[in-house]
Amino acid sequence: MKFKAMTAIAALLLAPAAFAGGADDDVLVINGEIEMTTKADAPAHLDGALDQVISGWHFRADETQQLETDDFENQGMIFVDQAIDQWNTAAGSEGKSCADCHGAPEDNMAMVTATYPKYDSDAGELQTVQMQMNECRTERMGADPWKYDSGAAVNMEALIASVGRGTPVQVAIDGDAAPYYEQGKEMYYTRYGQLELSCANCHEENFGNYIRADHLSQGQINGFPTYRLKNAKLNGVQSRFKGCIRDTRAETFSPGSDEFVALELYVKSRGNGLSVEGPSVRN
Ligand code: HEC
Ligand code: HEC
Repeated sequence: MKFKAMTAIAALLLAPAAFAGGADDDVLVINGEIEMTTKADAPAHLDGALDQVISGWHFRADETQQLETDDFENQGMIFVDQAIDQWNTAAGSEGKSCADCHGAPEDNMAMVTATYPKYDSDAGELQTVQMQMNECRTERMGADPWKYDSGAAVNMEALIASVGRGTPVQVAIDGDAAPYYEQGKEMYYTRYGQLELSCANCHEENFGNYIRADHLSQGQINGFPTYRLKNAKLNGVQSRFKGCIRDTRAETFSPGSDEFVALELYVKSRGNGLSVEGPSVRN
């Protein structure tokens, strides 16, 4: 098994990085004022699997990095503006908007992205930001739920992330969250598809190397939702997971599935200590 994974990686990898670790030493400051932590000591629960956790921003080309430093250049912010309109618009049978209950996003939502997915004891489940928003829509607004990772859901998730930028990711992995963490961790190390590759084979063992034309990062999710130059829209975390698993030529899980919710908690926890950075810009 091990041998097969090595062969698959060898076939995919074109070239090792030119510089150590593959991550550059640039510093990310947004709008000249929000200083971002894009490298941090690995959280203790990673148990030495990584020394340092590094935002995907460090692995992108200078031109791509630059776009994220200024909200006027970050095209993801266009979708955040659309979400602000939605935030203030009443929807559903109760005739309420998000703003009616939550006021301004920057006043009440700044800690959300740093702490989700989070266990909700009333609902009796681990909830992502999108699940929590849908709980508000269906149970408090009398509105239809947003389809998982649909444009409206991801744009709103990005608005909530944007007001939390700079806050260190700090998801809880103990107590009621522990079983989800364990499930996600197991998935992270499971080899999927004809290529028999796990997330760890690429993002833990080979970050910094090039795979085809792509500079492999640690696959961190502190920057989600991400605006991708490739598809010119905001992309949700779980759709990204789906794409990565599909690239191993495997049948994959759907965004919103129990499996991907657990995986989101685990992958998010690998970035505890990095700044919330969404909406980030990637290729
Ligand atoms: C009728 C009032 C009401 C409306 C309208 C409403 N919410 Fe909520 N929202 C709540 C309540 C109450 C909670 C706390 C529930 C809980 O802890 O489970 C909450 C919690 C949240 C949270 C989690 C906050 C945290 O600190 O953990 C988010 C995110 C959220 N709402 C987003 C939204 C969005 C987006 C909308 C509009 C689409 C919306 N809500 C509409 C009442 C509302
Ligand atoms: C065959 C190698 C490979 C495997 C296996 C793989 N990925 Fe990826 N992944 C990539 C490449 C290439 C990219 C784009 C470059 C980058 O950001 O690393 C990427 C990007 C990502 C990103 C975006 C990072 C950012 O900063 O925007 C996330 C998140 C991610 N992967 C998570 C995962 C998870 C979780 C798994 C396991 C379910 C996984 N990947 C499996 C190759 C892989």
